Amino acid sequence: MTLAQYKSAIEQSNIVSKTDINGIITFVNDEFCKIFEYTKDELIGKNHNIVRHPDVPKEIFKSLWDTILAKKTYKAMVKNLSKNGKTLYVNTTVIPILDKNGEIEEFIAIRYDVTEAIELSKQMQAKDRFMFQQSRLASMGEMIGNIAHQWRQPLNELGITIYDMKKSFSKCKEDEFLQSYEHSKDVIKRMSHTIEDFRNFFSPNKEKEKFLVKDAIDELLRMLQGTIQRHALHVEVKHHKQVWIEGYFNEFTQVLLNLINNSKDAFNQRKIEARDIKIDVNINHDKNIVILFSDNAKGIDENIIDKIFDPYFTTKHSSQGTGLGLYMSEMIVTKSMRGSIKVCNHADGATFEIKIPAGE
Ligand SMILES: Nc1ncnc2c1ncn2[C@@H]1O[C@H](COP(=O)(O)OP(=O)(O)OP(=O)(O)O)[C@@H](O)[C@H]1O
Ligand SMILES: [Mg+2]
Repeated sequence: MTLAQYKSAIEQSNIVSKTDINGIITFVNDEFCKIFEYTKDELIGKNHNIVRHPDVPKEIFKSLWDTILAKKTYKAMVKNLSKNGKTLYVNTTVIPILDKNGEIEEFIAIRYDVTEAIELSKQMQAKDRFMFQQSRLASMGEMIGNIAHQWRQPLNELGITIYDMKKSFSKCKEDEFLQSYEHSKDVIKRMSHTIEDFRNFFSPNKEKEKFLVKDAIDELLRMLQGTIQRHALHVEVKHHKQVWIEGYFNEFTQVLLNLINNSKDAFNQRKIEARDIKIDVNINHDKNIVILFSDNAKGIDENIIDKIFDPYFTTKHSSQGTGLGLYMSEMIVTKSMRGSIKVCNHADGATFEIKIPAGE
């Protein structure tokens, strides 16, 4: 390949520009003009910052200039702006060209348009966020039922205490009155704790933390007391080892919540009387945390078992399920916890196996 051929190959497939040592444009190729929507005449002699995007902080340009003035190659993904205000993302390489004496003669910049890929991944992120929200909302109704369940008892207690207060008031028993008053305050505090617990449960993850699997499961089951009683679930948890996880507490409990909800739905749909859910927590010899979750709800149809982790795959009525539960669970386990989730049927139900690499 001759040098001319080489040059033409680069120019045809890339966005190429040259500037002098002060950043004044001396050359642009056709691709550059096309992408940035300028004519050659509009560019030659202008400062290269003509394509700067206002969003890009000054420090970025400082680091660019520091690098190339130190005669080093600069590589980055840069956000640029076209003449008509279009945002462009370009993978950029700026190379200082040195003369015989080793002084900078000019800069050559080679760019590659990645706008489409960037926009696509942004849309994907938005879509993931949307789906996550959707799947959380889906379990909200059930959760409100659980708050109601946990409030029923303290509400009754408050009713009785207020009645007591009325009695002690009419009997002018100040001590008893004040005692009931203090007791009411305690009950109200407990009720607001409940709300706080649920709020935390549904708020997005703050940061990674180290927690005991046992604590997460205990907390989840406490919150699900309403569901567990209403649907007569018998949940048995076996912890073979004391297992720690480093990750997002809420995400982890969300996964188990999705599994419990699915079992509950299957029990109801198939009108099963004795409803057992078994959760088994262990660490295997490969230092993986293994959580086995089984129910006895007659299992998953073999002709759909390959699809249950797909987004929006559901066998339930649209008011009953969005089909995002297992999809989100898989995302959390694989993407966030770097583990895996599998399903298989056993004699009278389904077993989900979650494997997560254990920390220290
Ligand atoms: N334990 C189970 N027993 C029987 N079938 C199950 C079980 N878990 C999941 N399934 C099947 O897998 C499908 C997909 O489950 P997934 O949790 O992803 O969605 P969903 O429960 O239908 O809706 P969502 O979870 O969004 O409310 C369910 O519709 C159901 O047919
Ligand atoms: Mg589900």
